[in-house]
Amino acid sequence: MFARGTKCNARPPENDTKLLIRRRSTVSVDWGHVFAGRVGGMTASEIRELLKLIDRPEIISFAGGIPDPDLFPSSAIARSYEKIFQSNSGAGAALQYSITEGYTPLREWICDYMGGKGVNIGLDGVLVTNGSQQVLEFVGKLLIGPGDKIVVTRPTYLGALQAFSPYEPTYLSIPMDEEGPEMTALTEALAQKPKFFYLVPDFQNPNGTTVTLARRHAILDACDAAGVPVIEDTAYCELRYDGEHLPLMAALDCERNGGKLTNVIFGGTFSKTMVPAMRVGWVNAAPEVVNRLVLMKQAADLHASTINQIVMHDVVSQIFDSHLKLLRTQYKERRDAMLAALDEYAPPGVTWTKPEGGLFVWIEAPEGVDGTELLARAIKEANVAFVPGSAFHADRSGKNTLRLAFSVTKPAQIREGIRRLCELLKTAA
Ligand SMILES: Cc1ncc(COP(=O)(O)O)c(C=O)c1O
Repeated sequence: MFARGTKCNARPPENDTKLLIRRRSTVSVDWGHVFAGRVGGMTASEIRELLKLIDRPEIISFAGGIPDPDLFPSSAIARSYEKIFQSNSGAGAALQYSITEGYTPLREWICDYMGGKGVNIGLDGVLVTNGSQQVLEFVGKLLIGPGDKIVVTRPTYLGALQAFSPYEPTYLSIPMDEEGPEMTALTEALAQKPKFFYLVPDFQNPNGTTVTLARRHAILDACDAAGVPVIEDTAYCELRYDGEHLPLMAALDCERNGGKLTNVIFGGTFSKTMVPAMRVGWVNAAPEVVNRLVLMKQAADLHASTINQIVMHDVVSQIFDSHLKLLRTQYKERRDAMLAALDEYAPPGVTWTKPEGGLFVWIEAPEGVDGTELLARAIKEANVAFVPGSAFHADRSGKNTLRLAFSVTKPAQIREGIRRLCELLKTAA
């Protein structure tokens, strides 16, 4: 050890150097042994390694499930930050620690917004989080003990599996049809007394499926009867391009429970409607649940960034509705381009979903096609990329499925990318 006051970059005397070297050679931690058992399953995936190869301009990528940066409301955000820094007292507060629950005007905005969707909550029913990914992490921490059963759809959001898995659940993975999760499978799963049912009801990542109104009711009937909460993840619900908005599961839950959010934990986010980098999301639930989540948030990171919450509040107060109109127009054009290109080029035996919103189309290739092998070929031979669907299956099934995001690619490129992918699909089975 250096004496107190020694600069940390000062050269140690020669004798000390020898000592340090000798010590270094004998101390060796076996990290694999030291890691907690629950992280054993956390390994870098083969798919992630392949996707590292796609950062080349000649690649047409349908891989990233991300919003288009060209559509970010950058000027409105810049003006809002400038406003804060032009005021001394404002800057001080914006750069200071703040309360764990979140910036009160933003929470009030969220209460109004949710109220407009039939979910009447007070401030004690809202916690601002670092994106809705943090809601999933907290739900895992709050509800899952080792070996507890939890229900997810097949396929489901990969990030939810990553958030839940360290808490060591046993997954009950239920198939989906075009109306949502299959009810027979859900009923059987609920009989096994799971801790919760995680669901993305609108334009699900990865398959674009939207749960119909009748199925939403049926799910709540079954879950309420079994005393199992529903975790509703609504990352994409505002990005609807056709048809009517359907009521949130949270709104239906309120309707059934005298206007009170009771059996649903709702995760919301500004990542797809505004920008993801500010990391502002939120959770709504019964106050007794939110109270626990607040304690978790305190322990995890004290609070979401104060300045980002203030800016997000300022920006959504001004442009939320008009910006959504722009996003819907742009993404609809891309969704239409992808569906039209699939109609034109897809070989027989290949099927795909026709999402009413969101960012994804889901392809089912004939049995025998391996999505991961196809991706390796697609990158090498056709300069096109996607995410193999098996990544979105808790049980690693779905080898012949592919997720295609249309969000960051312009229509002409989408058409060309689909043409190339379909050429490969012709020879893949
Ligand atoms: C279904 C779903 N839920 C949650 C998230 C997390 O988003 P964020 O943490 O940016 O709100 C994503 C991100 O892509 C998602 O697709």
